[in-house]
Amino acid sequence: MNKRPCMEVLGTGRAVPEKILTNQDLEKMVDTSDEWILARTGIRQRHIAEPGVPLSFFAARAAREALADAGVAAEEIDLIILGTVTGDSKFPATACVVQDLIGASKAAAFDISAACSGFLYGLQLAESMMAIQGYRRILLIGGEILSSMVNWQDRDTCVLFGDGVGAVVLGPGQGACGILSTTIHSDGAFRDLLYSPGCGSLNPPSHENVDKMLHTIRMEGREVFRHAVTSMADALNQALDMAGVVVEDLDLLIPHQANLRIIEAVGKRFRLSPDKIYVNVDRFGNTSAASIPIALDEARKTGRIASGSLVGMVTFGAGFTWAAAVVRF
Ligand SMILES: CC(C)(COP(=O)(O)OP(=O)(O)OC[C@H]1O[C@@H](n2cnc3c(N)ncnc32)[C@H](O)[C@@H]1OP(=O)(O)O)[C@@H](O)C(=O)NCCC(=O)NCCS
Repeated sequence: MNKRPCMEVLGTGRAVPEKILTNQDLEKMVDTSDEWILARTGIRQRHIAEPGVPLSFFAARAAREALADAGVAAEEIDLIILGTVTGDSKFPATACVVQDLIGASKAAAFDISAACSGFLYGLQLAESMMAIQGYRRILLIGGEILSSMVNWQDRDTCVLFGDGVGAVVLGPGQGACGILSTTIHSDGAFRDLLYSPGCGSLNPPSHENVDKMLHTIRMEGREVFRHAVTSMADALNQALDMAGVVVEDLDLLIPHQANLRIIEAVGKRFRLSPDKIYVNVDRFGNTSAASIPIALDEARKTGRIASGSLVGMVTFGAGFTWAAAVVRF
């Protein structure tokens, strides 16, 4: 018998910077072309924060939108979990900044670091904390200002990433709806294929380390691509099994928006028709922990997800980390 406690999505929100960086803009910055970027990644543009505007600014906006959508007051929130690798500062947790900005005075708040898997890691954590600790109203946020750690001279990586935040309010569910399964995984043996080596205790900030650009993103694109497709397929299969459903039951799959070719390769493995796969990577690029909650918010508010919809979510990111979930709305 499935003894899972029932937790459901009560509301969603998103916030992205106004400024848009197009492929044509990037053509003026590095040796690249709109054709190359579009053909290899499916990305046309990404939103980029003005320098110095921190993650908490957008996270608070997304959070307020999710609270309004859920009809929940900030004071009712008893837990805030923020998945990010680009918080406002090393400490305190940016979740604490968001708590203050939105007035969620009764909440416990902390960040988690699982890169592009941050949102789905947070979903499993939220479910466990609701079941065991009895939290009733949880604000789960995934957000990044990746532009703050992109090397704008490195064409291998600078074309891929964008900034943004997505947020959801979670609460105890009723009946047949709710989070049906979550599964999370990691393998640190692959940590050097996608990482940022600088500004931590390994390579503390110094003029020399900044000159070497150690604070920016390093990536072996082809290897990441290969692992992403296999791991996402494995995780989704596992989440479907745990939920007791088959892929044909899904009304929508929301994959992490890293690259259209990765999304299509995963869809092909499951023989999913393109109209069942949510894609917005063309407009946002890879926003890491924000990509699934931004897509989820768009899908709900444009009617792609309705009451009763069965939705799969699957992701892959640095660590390596990967994760999947199945949710009935
Ligand atoms: C990064 C990625 C788009 C590169 O695509 P690819 O088809 O693997 O391309 P390659 O890395 O093999 O590079 C092919 C050529 O394009 C060049 N190239 C790389 N970036 C380029 C750019 N922005 N513009 C033009 N050419 C570029 C390379 O230098 C290489 O040239 P060469 O053949 O003369 O050596 C792809 O590997 C990818 O998406 N990987 C996964 C990345 C990802 O999703 N990361 C986040 C996971 S959460």
